Amino acid sequence: MFSRVFFGSLAVAATLLSQQCAAKFPFGGYQLETVNNWGDNPTGLEMQIYKPGNVAEKPAVIFALHFCFGSGSLYNDLNNYSEQADEHGFIVVFPSSLHENGCWDVSSNTSLTRFGGGDSTGLFNMVKFAISEYGADPAQIFVTGSSSGCMMTNVMIALYPDLFAAATCYSGVAAGCLAGSPSSSPIFSDPACANGNVNKTGEQWAQIVYNMDPGYKGHRPKFATLHGTADTVVSPSNLDQEIKQWSTVFGIKQTASNPNTPQQGYTQLVFGTGTQFVAYSAAGVGHTVPVNTTLDLEWFGITSNAA
Ligand SMILES: *[C@@H]1O[C@H](CO)[C@@H](O)[C@H](O)[C@H]1NC(C)=O
Ligand SMILES: *[C@@H]1O[C@H](CO)[C@@H](O)[C@H](O)[C@H]1NC(C)=O
Ligand SMILES: *[C@@H]1O[C@H](CO)[C@@H](O)[C@H](O)[C@H]1NC(C)=O
Ligand SMILES: *[C@@H]1O[C@H](CO)[C@@H](O)[C@H](O)[C@H]1NC(C)=O
Repeated sequence: MFSRVFFGSLAVAATLLSQQCAAKFPFGGYQLETVNNWGDNPTGLEMQIYKPGNVAEKPAVIFALHFCFGSGSLYNDLNNYSEQADEHGFIVVFPSSLHENGCWDVSSNTSLTRFGGGDSTGLFNMVKFAISEYGADPAQIFVTGSSSGCMMTNVMIALYPDLFAAATCYSGVAAGCLAGSPSSSPIFSDPACANGNVNKTGEQWAQIVYNMDPGYKGHRPKFATLHGTADTVVSPSNLDQEIKQWSTVFGIKQTASNPNTPQQGYTQLVFGTGTQFVAYSAAGVGHTVPVNTTLDLEWFGITSNAA
């Protein structure tokens, strides 16, 4: 039983690695700067940034979180955030997790607790550092990520809703889905969540979010989340769980379903007025839903040009 899970997970890991090795580095030309001494770093995270030469006076900051077996610099090489930063004058922070096979800890109680001392605490401190060090606009702090980075995005907006203006992410799971798993790495985790077997009601999912920042009644970051229907690594039924969680937290119901939006085969599911929460189901797309930085920037409301 254990060995079946283990070898199944190894196969998944090998697939992910080979996909990434085979991938070209379309945006490989953007050099990151490594930042040290950015604050209390209980789990040994690394902070790298892309700061354009023409950075805005009070810049927006996008935190871009990598997938498992990845790194901040690989995520930068594969996606278009730095080129967009040159165009719009914002800063991109590419943190790296150096443990659990390069996954973000979205399973331990430590990391699922506000200021609990896990990865999420380190990321919180990175955000605070970015605001003070770069004079960033505290009202324009954004978080996004893929796979494990999307799982962590769900966790960060649940733990620190006051910190972020908006979030997007690709191919993740609801906040708390992996709670109690012995690990967040696909090799050692309890596969129930990734396999789509953690199925809760909207109320149950929402309660998890409420418990992550008890008593919080303020602004919550607007959230857009994407998932492929042919994802064999993180079951697409996790999109339904995320939808139940966040539509309940926001107290809004689905109001529209727009086919072929923003591209062929993607269905945009609109909740409420569409300004707080939307989900995209990408027909026939596997675990790697291509990051669309244009969609991200539109959702974040980043339109201003550089200084
Ligand atoms: C990357 O972003 C820039 C905007 O800064 C855009 O002009 C360019 O077309 C984008 N490239 C791709 C391949 O998305
Ligand atoms: C999780 O950690 C918090 C803070 O350290 C602690 O108060 C709480 O009891 C823990 N919960 C569980 C289920 O271990
Ligand atoms: C989750 O539970 C609901 C209600 O019992 C059920 O209708 C739905 O099919 C289940 N979904 C999954 C993915 O198991
Ligand atoms: C990305 O999203 C934008 C709108 O948000 C859309 O216009 C564009 O076609 C999308 N890019 C791709 C490659 O689908």
